[in-house]
Amino acid sequence: MIKLENITKTYPLSFNRETKVALQNVSFDVEAGEFITFCGRSGAGKTTLLKLIACQEQPTEGAVFFDGENLGKIKDKDICAFRHQIGFVFQDYKLLSYKTVFENVSYALEVTDYQNGVMDNEVSQILELVGLEKQTNSFPHELSGGEKQRVAIARALIHRPKVILADEPTGNLDPYHTRDVLKILNKVNELGTTILLATHSKEIVNSLQRRVITIEDGQIRSDEANGRFIL
Ligand SMILES: Nc1ncnc2c1ncn2[C@@H]1O[C@H](COP(=O)(O)OP(=O)(O)O)[C@@H](O)[C@H]1O
Ligand SMILES: [Mg+2]
Repeated sequence: MIKLENITKTYPLSFNRETKVALQNVSFDVEAGEFITFCGRSGAGKTTLLKLIACQEQPTEGAVFFDGENLGKIKDKDICAFRHQIGFVFQDYKLLSYKTVFENVSYALEVTDYQNGVMDNEVSQILELVGLEKQTNSFPHELSGGEKQRVAIARALIHRPKVILADEPTGNLDPYHTRDVLKILNKVNELGTTILLATHSKEIVNSLQRRVITIEDGQIRSDEANGRFIL
């Protein structure tokens, strides 16, 4: 479903003419339905990798394919439809503080798919999936970190994406809420959504027992079906 072919990504540095190599000659394939953990220290290139897949950055060399389509050749008018196939979850949740749980999730739909009854139903279903049906009318400041991240996962799911990209989603959470969020990601995966999770946490990598791609200094160090933390 997703293919990275010999990806190198360099960023220009503003303070001199040098460039920073964030990823170097990275290749791998993702099958639909996989749950892959990208494991690497801070600065290894995990966020860059997820941004390339989300078409938020373009590779310097190489190509990213999504369902056979080269993302480097995608037309501007098709970008929005493409992005609906991808849900992004961040470490810091990125919720709108003045909107309720329901509104934070429905917000993404309001612009394009607004149809009152349909929308309410969709949002309720997804909030139930992440176990937040009782907090529908709460505001973000009334929620725990784990609950906030569940809202963010619900928001990422609203377009029923094929893939969830989760960038250090448990980075701000205690072990209890970390387990909670991983449980939900596992459930979402069981329902058919592909999950790509970036983390530097040994506990997470070892608890998931799924495919692990370890990245070190912008290069793939290992790609194991039943991987363990090796850094
Ligand atoms: N916009 C940018 N400009 C310059 N360098 C960047 C930029 N984004 C990331 N980098 C550099 O690329 C490397 C990989 O970063 P990143 O993908 O954020 O790693 P990770 O998510 O694993 O911490 C780091 O050395 C980082 O400093
Ligand atoms: Mg990162």
